[in-house]
Amino acid sequence: MKHLIAPSVLAADYTNLQKDFDMVNKSEADWYHVDVMDGRFVPNISFGMFIVAAMKKMATKPLDVHLMIVEPEKYIEQFREAGADVISVHYEACPHLHRTIQQIKATGAKAGVALNPHTPVSVLENVIEETDMVVLMSVNPGYGGQKFIYQTLKKVAQLKEMITVRNTNTLIEIDGGVGLQNAESLLKAGADVLVAGSSVFKSENPLDTISRMKAIGKDVFQA
Ligand code: DX5
Ligand code: ZN
Repeated sequence: MKHLIAPSVLAADYTNLQKDFDMVNKSEADWYHVDVMDGRFVPNISFGMFIVAAMKKMATKPLDVHLMIVEPEKYIEQFREAGADVISVHYEACPHLHRTIQQIKATGAKAGVALNPHTPVSVLENVIEETDMVVLMSVNPGYGGQKFIYQTLKKVAQLKEMITVRNTNTLIEIDGGVGLQNAESLLKAGADVLVAGSSVFKSENPLDTISRMKAIGKDVFQA
């Protein structure tokens, strides 16, 4: 499978979101990665469903909504109504994860589960068949522009092994500190979706950066 690129709009220009959405719409990117933070699960607060609904109006590509919030089960339907195509909740925020995954799927959205850097992939053994995507956090969630945590590479390989052995269609998404410098090793380890915030929006030529990130995968998968 060819990998997907999901620019994280957390790093976009909020004084002119339309301009950045126009750029991503015409780029080779596949999804929008949309970070929702509540100031409780993570120290930072970003935005909620009203803003997601506004983003949906500007986007011509699917919205991959990453809920960094406590009690996400209270808001899943509202984020789906706002336009989320993929909804990811944190393992660390869900005491009844299996139920929450079913709840997401019942809305018609794809269900993702995100793991903090300290959480081993083995915690997903009993839900991997139900999970459409695993989001491996490669920074501690809460902020854009942080340094990639290198141990994530090992987790990608472990998760890829679990997915292969169990023969599921689960996608592996990597979130945090991803850019042209580490995209290739992540793809080789088994990543399917690369989230890229600062490396896209803070680059001199975001369109070109997205295109180069997409091209790396072409080499990997055609080899
Ligand atoms: C971190 C967020 C990430 C963030 C990535 O809490 O989940 O999606 O936007 O930003 P960069 O790519 O700048 O590390
Ligand atoms: Zn994210």
